[in-house]
Amino acid sequence: NWTMEAFKDKEVVRIRKLVGETGQVIGAVSGGVDSTVAAKLMHEAIGDRFHAVMVDNGVLRMDEAKQVKETLTKGLGVNLTVIDASERFLGLLKGVSDPEKKRKIIGNTFIEIFEEEAKKIAKAAESTPKAGKIEYFLQGTLYPDVIESISFKGPSQTIKTHHNVGGLPEKMNLKLIEPLRELFKDEVRKMGLDLGIPADLVGRHPFPGPGLAIRIIGDVTPEKVRTVQEADRIFIEEIRNAGLYDKISQAFAALMAGDAVGVVGDQRLYGHIIALRAVVTTDFMTADAYEFEIKFLKHIAQRIGDEVKGVARVTYEVTGKPPSTIEFE
Ligand code: XMP
Repeated sequence: NWTMEAFKDKEVVRIRKLVGETGQVIGAVSGGVDSTVAAKLMHEAIGDRFHAVMVDNGVLRMDEAKQVKETLTKGLGVNLTVIDASERFLGLLKGVSDPEKKRKIIGNTFIEIFEEEAKKIAKAAESTPKAGKIEYFLQGTLYPDVIESISFKGPSQTIKTHHNVGGLPEKMNLKLIEPLRELFKDEVRKMGLDLGIPADLVGRHPFPGPGLAIRIIGDVTPEKVRTVQEADRIFIEEIRNAGLYDKISQAFAALMAGDAVGVVGDQRLYGHIIALRAVVTTDFMTADAYEFEIKFLKHIAQRIGDEVKGVARVTYEVTGKPPSTIEFE
């Protein structure tokens, strides 16, 4: 598609002009489509003068940080620092059950850590003879986010508009650079493919900033995180193998509150309840539960029960949005 190619080339030229010969840019990456495409585009434009930072908050999907590092560093050549802050986040989340509190803790801690890292990068840049100051903050804002942040005032208005970075750019005195702000999601995917980003990454389902913390009802413990990670991995693997991944907008496993009884051998044992969720939606404002074959669901439930320690039951969530939401908290 020549229009996307042309757009990309034009954007690369614009970024180079904006940033200048020595300017530095910093940005957060999550492993999602938007931040990956934005990061790769920055790398095309200014190489290692773009500094990507990924924060492992301890509530990512299984092996997520490792995979993002592989893809961005080895695969795409992006200058990336991964910060493992799992313990710090999990420590702060300990005993916290209120969903909005969890969101706040994760958001604020993310900002703190990102700021600390940005200072280190700025310092290193200062001592490099030809490097300029960090002046810009990359944000993978899309056109619908721009529209939404202008017109949408609902209970979840803070969700997509800030890309989980809060008031970070303002606080750090950085100007925003938003190379995707004129694009829709399908155009971003197209550009991603043009930039050589693997198709399975470009087609990835969205993942919320607060991560698995809002997929674990009640308090978050390392054991619950591991349980939901393992169940999620099995669910997504089965969906991919069945060729259903691209037919579904978002799919994941969540951990319900409390324990339910199950049976192992001739013992009644109390264990976790895993809920599987898969939805189809165009705008994430309304959504329908995906209609799997019941046999397929039974197979997954059996696998999760057999392979994930401490799980007594697996359910499939069929509620639409509304009245429910896509996430459980
Ligand atoms: P809900 O649960 O509101 O989700 O139907 C709609 C979409 O938004 C995502 N979501 C979030 N994303 N921070 C995020 O970055 C959040 O706090 C958050 N809450 C929900 C959700 O995954 C879905 O794609």
